[in-house]
Amino acid sequence: MAFKVFSVFGTRPEAIKMAPLVKALEADPRFESKVIVTGQHREMLDQVLRIFDIHPDYDINIMSTNQSLTEITTKILQALQPILSQEKPDLLLVHGDTTTTFAASLAAFYQQVKIGHVEAGLRTWNKYSPFPEEANRQMTDVLADIYFAPTAISRQNLIDENHPAEKIYVTGNTAVDAMKYTISNTYVSNAFEITNDKNIVLTMHRRENIGDPMIRVFSAIKRIAKEHPDYTIVFPMHKNPQVRELAQAEFANFANIQLIEPLDVVDFHNLMARSYFILSDSGGVQEEAPSLGVPVLVLRDTTERPEGVTAGTLKLIGTTEEVVYREMKQLLTDSDCYQKMAHAKNPYGDGQASANIITAITDYFSL
Ligand code: UD1
Ligand code: UDP
Repeated sequence: MAFKVFSVFGTRPEAIKMAPLVKALEADPRFESKVIVTGQHREMLDQVLRIFDIHPDYDINIMSTNQSLTEITTKILQALQPILSQEKPDLLLVHGDTTTTFAASLAAFYQQVKIGHVEAGLRTWNKYSPFPEEANRQMTDVLADIYFAPTAISRQNLIDENHPAEKIYVTGNTAVDAMKYTISNTYVSNAFEITNDKNIVLTMHRRENIGDPMIRVFSAIKRIAKEHPDYTIVFPMHKNPQVRELAQAEFANFANIQLIEPLDVVDFHNLMARSYFILSDSGGVQEEAPSLGVPVLVLRDTTERPEGVTAGTLKLIGTTEEVVYREMKQLLTDSDCYQKMAHAKNPYGDGQASANIITAITDYFSL
């Protein structure tokens, strides 16, 4: 009988990084693969499902405007209980560190369903940064039975927390697998204008950055936009209304700041690949940019992705106006500094992470 593997995800980044694995599981006759989506994100999740042609078996559709962490958690717990108790999968796969990740893991634990954590072992060791992701991933790892760590560093973090070595597999990151589906030399955009390598891409959405940190960063960007009218700053705004209201208020009347809708992942990856540099507080962008050789100024005080900093592509700059201004200015005016960051060195594997995860599952469960 086929081994019953369920994948559960709910937000854009989980969907992008689970999609290649779902595709690989669907193509493998040893597995009966089913997908549950929580719909923690609605539009941004559906964009990914469309691109990868994934049709969920269950969609519990929990999103509401300005949802609280408590609402997300309790709705997922309530909705997954009957599905898991009826279906009794052999393994539930969760991804990363969102509230979907943690709540689905807890729901599986209550049904004594085995849990596999994809992208396990990332740590800042600061439970409020990023919030609530650091706690979500630590709590998920307490509950998980098998760990798919993207790198040796994430494996070591799990070992340091006394998780047994025989449950941890180093697999690479499925973000690299996803980029094999999306990036193309012949890509032509209908979604944004390419201005001869003079695009600067901005993404910003973290809960702890909403409010003053975001206003400080936007102030620095406005100064740069005025001083460098030949560059265009492209901001595909997250659907979070709090982010959008701030961006629309701060960036009104700037001809070279484009506020656009979230791009689908094909458009976004190809935009990144063609941009001069990126400003971002995103986790996924920190994994993707090193293999593109596009510098990223990381708008955070901590990162759970030190591999990209060591590779040289990422620089952790925080959210102080003067520092953000200075770092942007340096990339625009100091070509030595730019060249030091702009080389492709991918610490996240060779795009075989999904295949490695499947091998790990067959090994661990002796299939
Ligand atoms: C969530 C994750 C975060 C992840 C991020 C990726 C949690 C607590 N946070 O944060 O770890 O980095 O996703 O983007 O799990 N909204 C829409 N449509 C969408 C998506 C969001 O309207 O397609 C709006 C809704 O009003 C929603 C709000 O955005 O209430 C916030 O979404 P939520 O998932 O709670 O938090 P994110 O900041 O997106
Ligand atoms: N992304 C996208 N469209 C956009 C912005 C980002 O497809 O307009 C992709 C990006 O390439 C990465 C993922 O979304 O794969 C990151 O999502 P996000 O920044 O929302 O979440 P995080 O990674 O911070 O959890």
